[in-house]
Amino acid sequence: MSSAIIVRNLAKRYRVKKRISLLRSHTEVIEALRGIDFTVNYGEVVGLLGPNGAGKTTTIKILATLLLPDSGEAYVAGYNVIKNAGEVRKRIGIMLTVEKGFYGKLTGRENLEYFAALYGLDRVRSKDRIDYLIRLLELDKLGADYKLLEEFSLGMKARLSLARALLSDAPVLLLDEPTLGLDPPSARRIRELVRDLAHKEGKAVLYTTHNMFEAELVCDRILLINKGMIAAWGTPQELKMRIPKLRVIAINIKGEGRVDRILESLGVKYEIKSEENSINSIRIHAERPEDVFNDVVRKFIASGFEIVSARIEEPTLEDVFIYFSEGSL
Ligand SMILES: Nc1ncnc2c1ncn2[C@@H]1O[C@H](COP(=O)(O)OP(=O)(O)OP(=O)(O)O)[C@@H](O)[C@H]1O
Ligand SMILES: [Mg+2]
Repeated sequence: MSSAIIVRNLAKRYRVKKRISLLRSHTEVIEALRGIDFTVNYGEVVGLLGPNGAGKTTTIKILATLLLPDSGEAYVAGYNVIKNAGEVRKRIGIMLTVEKGFYGKLTGRENLEYFAALYGLDRVRSKDRIDYLIRLLELDKLGADYKLLEEFSLGMKARLSLARALLSDAPVLLLDEPTLGLDPPSARRIRELVRDLAHKEGKAVLYTTHNMFEAELVCDRILLINKGMIAAWGTPQELKMRIPKLRVIAINIKGEGRVDRILESLGVKYEIKSEENSINSIRIHAERPEDVFNDVVRKFIASGFEIVSARIEEPTLEDVFIYFSEGSL
């Protein structure tokens, strides 16, 4: 696999005028990116995750040549985003959260025809491509052929935006929160499509989302960005393994006896909540819970308890997100 996106020590500052009083203002510098490095390969979906204001959209805009970085380098499909912006633009499909440029008085299909012409796509080929994309995103069923864009719902606009990003069949896709505000079936459709684009068609996809469930489903790798820096990266599974302190054994037992004594004899850290029907709900914290799981269960059975349920709770991607973005607010 070769790298479709290479980012090296990329930094971006915004200068904003802040008004202090009616006549006085001063310039404030916002460090949106403080030198980030990463790569995205063809055939994979990489998720860019992080709290609000972390620098995700800024990164996407720099890669899409919509914004100039202050320092560092970025290459897309082998081309430098500053020196070869035109070549980069030919090789990317972009979808931004705040969609601009669609025409309210044109239908969905007419909007796509307009953009195909703007991108300089061949007329005959682009007609086939638009037919294909309208069917792929099920926009035909939603009336994209007769409804004007101003009559489109949010979900329809999102589908149309993705269709526009796919018009030129570009090898690199930059998708900023493509499922924001979509209903579950639409979001699922888009997720499946994005995975197929990477895994079946070999495209490189950089994808942002605030939905952790979705990130886990869609992304092969995740970059966690916080305050303009990469806080952690890896596969969802690797990231979860990086926060071992959050792994617990959750066990519910029924019976009479000194639960605390048993736990102490096992030498583990625990919390006990006594519930109704003499059920004790226990949470055992362990770095490697699988090492003690069998001992715990055996000991309770040997002491005459009934095991109602017992399982190892893995940290979720949400735990990872919170762990690595702590103190960011
Ligand atoms: N045009 C701009 N002018 C000034 N500051 C900006 C501009 N765009 C973004 N910023 C600032 O840069 C930082 C990074 O913003 P960015 O939009 O990249 O964050 P994000 O990770 O996409 O956040 P979100 O999850 O809210 O979309 C923030 O502090 C933001 O306020
Ligand atoms: Mg953003």
